[in-house]
Amino acid sequence: MTGAMGGERIGRRAELTFRHNREHGRHGWLRLTPAYSVRVVRDLLDELPEGARVLDPFSGTGTTALCAVERGLSGTGVELNPFLVWLARLKTRRFAKRTLARAAEAATEALEGLGEPVPAPPIHNVERWWAAPVLDWLCRLKGALPTRGAHAELLELAFCRTMIALSGAAFDHPSMSFKEAKSHTDAQARARFEDDVRAVLEAAATNPAGKARIVHGDARALPVGDVEFDAVITSPPYPNRMSYVRELRPYMYWTGHLKVARDAGELDWDAIGGTWGVATSRLKHWERSRPRPRGLGKVLGEIRRASDKNGALLANYVDRYFEDIDQHLEALRPRVAAGGTLAYVIGNASFYGVLVPAEKLFESLMRRHGFHDARSAILRKRNSKKELYELLVSARG
Ligand SMILES: C[S@@+](CC[C@H](N)C(=O)[O-])C[C@H]1O[C@@H](n2cnc3c(N)ncnc32)[C@H](O)[C@@H]1O
Repeated sequence: MTGAMGGERIGRRAELTFRHNREHGRHGWLRLTPAYSVRVVRDLLDELPEGARVLDPFSGTGTTALCAVERGLSGTGVELNPFLVWLARLKTRRFAKRTLARAAEAATEALEGLGEPVPAPPIHNVERWWAAPVLDWLCRLKGALPTRGAHAELLELAFCRTMIALSGAAFDHPSMSFKEAKSHTDAQARARFEDDVRAVLEAAATNPAGKARIVHGDARALPVGDVEFDAVITSPPYPNRMSYVRELRPYMYWTGHLKVARDAGELDWDAIGGTWGVATSRLKHWERSRPRPRGLGKVLGEIRRASDKNGALLANYVDRYFEDIDQHLEALRPRVAAGGTLAYVIGNASFYGVLVPAEKLFESLMRRHGFHDARSAILRKRNSKKELYELLVSARG
């Protein structure tokens, strides 16, 4: 990783994003934008001693935990979104050969016996996602798949891949957009699912050596018990108004982790950095209850003054984000062993041209909570905007 921090020209390095993960076995099971690069995590793990206990308090798709257990370490993740908890647990789990055989058989049976459809997911504007015949085919496939057992979960994952591949959603940008809903024949859809089952089962056949624990919980409380970790390797949400729930909606509806639209807004409000649906209106009345990190007040004033319309709302957004990070680092302090390391991959942000120097604010909060040697280095440029970077903020316990 040092190359990226040295004097080299800093570009938009594709190997440091989720796109790079697709070729890496279980890391490539689903293509989700929250995921960070396996390469970054592996480089960080290289620096740890044997037997290190690794924590990711914003575990997302479980990249850190999977990298840790792949090399025989123990990996703990904490994640608020129940769909991602399910996914990370599946990715880090060990599978018996007979489970894989059962999954392959059940997939064949389901494709032969497509029958009673499940109801279509209650996604707003569902026709933007799937052409009507494709949606019908997906509902019939889902209705024919098993619902219990490890083999059923592997097929649920393969189904997730297929339904996205058959949809009109495009994930070419940091956030998702739509092309025209594609039409596919039943034979094409079937071939796609068969490919997806094959890809999932192939990666599931390589079992990780170490043990993972993925906790469904809040990084501001860190419900991991009275334990200490040697390394925290993580990528929290960035203060850039990206909604993970928005991105994950199709997966969450199809897998039953989301039943009504209102719950998506609630989950986004609970998440750090969320502003979707109900979260936006609540932000208007939100008030800070802790001292701000050094330098934040000035940035907030500039954002507030930059727009009569939404300046105050966005200033509140940024303010709340850093209060949440403050709370998280306070909860983290007793969980980090003396000399343990922190590595936070974060992005800075800009509102109305006012730069939010997220890395400096993280450093300041890490110092506030007694971490040592807080510093940051640029990993890569995020997009064509000159001043937006992904950075690594590190410190020691
Ligand atoms: C940048 S993503 C992490 C991606 C992860 N590194 C990966 O490779 O998949 C940030 C994650 O933090 C989660 N999150 C947001 N607020 C949280 C909270 N208060 N507690 C735990 N997780 C939270 C989001 O749901 C999202 O999955």
